[in-house]
Amino acid sequence: MINFHVLTLFPEMVLNALNTSIIGRAVSNNIITLCATDIRDFSENKHLRVDDYPYGGGAGMVMQPGPVYKAYEHALSYMKSAPRVIYLTPQGKTFDQNMAREFALSGDLIFLCGHYEGIDERVLEEIVTDNVSIGDYVLTGGELAAMVMIDAISRMVPGVLSNDESGEFETFHDNLLEYPQYTRPEEFHGRKVPAVLLSGHHANIEKWRRQQSLLRTKKARPDLFARVKLSDEDNEFLKS
Ligand code: ADE
Repeated sequence: MINFHVLTLFPEMVLNALNTSIIGRAVSNNIITLCATDIRDFSENKHLRVDDYPYGGGAGMVMQPGPVYKAYEHALSYMKSAPRVIYLTPQGKTFDQNMAREFALSGDLIFLCGHYEGIDERVLEEIVTDNVSIGDYVLTGGELAAMVMIDAISRMVPGVLSNDESGEFETFHDNLLEYPQYTRPEEFHGRKVPAVLLSGHHANIEKWRRQQSLLRTKKARPDLFARVKLSDEDNEFLKS
């Protein structure tokens, strides 16, 4: 059981996107919960503004600390344990599968999504436990990044994926990319399914898949490949 709570200026964006498909099913099955709090509900001014000009000048607007802090307190009131608070920012540590696995072990997670030029530093200092980026590019807000993280974390939570969908032996397991997959028909636009997959010989199929994963990873992601633990058989194959 894991409770996700997103602090955002666009709660519908997050809820609409995540309440579909596999994550929506997990919510219906009470394996995860998903809440979103609108930071604007905690605006401290009559125009419902939550941003203001930056002290010291410069372009853009900065989200004020008060509404963010109050939205955080509101989220806390739903939670039992002291949650980790993740601030989505290109300045954070880059999200990866290991981080997804680790966050999946937590009970409660709060995601803080910024907009404009950022959020007043003082409230970040006070509440944020983890700064996380989803990659080296700049988004218009943290929502898409939070959704990416929630999706990847959820599928690591026991019961979210069925046995069929289970993530045990797929991409990034052992730092290897996944082998190619095929289904019917046996021939498509003149391209045949590799014969070994039709052979019914399980040991050969496993061997072929491992070899495909090795070749793919070596070619597409030399950085990952450098971390793969190679068996004697792998080394033998790679030499040939
Ligand atoms: N907010 C803006 N850009 C982002 C990124 N790359 N990762 C996480 N949060 C962001």
